[in-house]
Amino acid sequence: MTTKKIAVLRGDYIGPEIMTAGLAVLAAACTGKFAYQIQDLPFGGQAIDAVGDPLPAETIHSCQNADAVLLSAIGGPKWDQAKKRPEAGLLQIRNELQLFANIRPTRVDPILAQNSPVKEAVIQGTNFVIVRELTSGIYFGQPRKQTATAALDTSTYTKQEIERILRLGFKMSEHRQKHVTIVDKANVLATSKLWRQVTQQVQADFPTVKVDFSYVDAASMKLISQPTFFDVIITANLFGDILSDEASVLTGSLGTIPSMSAGNNGPNLYEPIHGSAPDIAGKGIADPLAMIQSIEMMLRESFHENQIADQIAVAVRQTIKAGIVTPDLGGHATTKEVTAKIIENLKG
Ligand code: NAD
Ligand code: IPM
Ligand code: MN
Repeated sequence: MTTKKIAVLRGDYIGPEIMTAGLAVLAAACTGKFAYQIQDLPFGGQAIDAVGDPLPAETIHSCQNADAVLLSAIGGPKWDQAKKRPEAGLLQIRNELQLFANIRPTRVDPILAQNSPVKEAVIQGTNFVIVRELTSGIYFGQPRKQTATAALDTSTYTKQEIERILRLGFKMSEHRQKHVTIVDKANVLATSKLWRQVTQQVQADFPTVKVDFSYVDAASMKLISQPTFFDVIITANLFGDILSDEASVLTGSLGTIPSMSAGNNGPNLYEPIHGSAPDIAGKGIADPLAMIQSIEMMLRESFHENQIADQIAVAVRQTIKAGIVTPDLGGHATTKEVTAKIIENLKG
């Protein structure tokens, strides 16, 4: 059994709380079955405090040499005025590792359906994935500048950047319901018009996949009113960011959605879609499920340890079913109690 290297970025505010929970579940699930070694690295606000940079060179290097990277969440009011914010470090690490595809699954578990403010009948059966382009678009386009009286952001996409994310999303759909929805703003934006042209070329290589296009304003409405319509949503960086937080309303809480960021070579990065939740940090009530499910995704996608991942999935489900959930899901349990119950279920 070769020992895999996992780079761990514990993050800020609730970051360390949920990472501790996730790593405890990982240890309990893997003992005697899967050997790994974790390496804690400075990142985010915590790294600004320690060494003055949210992404020190040592962290980049160690992440590049790891088999997978686990991140909780970074940022928060303490560093909002920093010259280089924690968020800039997050964008930079995605870029350094060339993680151009961010996969954000939304599946409504029937036992959690009553937690959503959306009617159960509308959300039952929801199972889609948002394939978010992660290293281009308005997040990275240059020039970007700000003066006291004007500011400029630039949205760019090349054909090559669009094509690689489309191909990844189309391939994924072949193993799902074979239905791709491209979400854009092609009635206004030049980048979106190019996305549609490239889609028309790429879809010829995937004849079994049904394709439709939706403007982002209408798509954001349909995501809530008819979520079962969607299977694979492929979209640009900013749209994917916004739509994925919206999608979490269907599952009952932002604290439940995991993600994987992938590139061509090198390690994938796994992280919850949510942020550092400064409003609940230190209270011991952060929902650890998105972090734990990100670890489950890592076991499947980076290490092909499907059996261990399945065991975690079952233990999580039993815990939810027993009503041991944090306040965001309507429960009274603490992060530690949820974690302990999942571990107990793993052993059970
Ligand atoms: P947020 O996602 O941190 O929080 C939004 C709301 O959801 C809050 O009310 C929070 O309490 C709740 N929430 C989030 N995760 C939760 C969990 N696991 N359990 C229970 N409730 C949870 O978004 P925000 O408040 O807009 O941002 C806070 C900071 O996080 C900002 O600095 C932002 O830039 C950063 N951020 C980081 C990441 C990341 O590290 N990937 C992602 C998003 C936001
Ligand atoms: C996310 C976050 C980040 C993003 C921020 C913190 C830069 O919102 O991972 O969803 O916008 O990508
Ligand atoms: Mn986001």
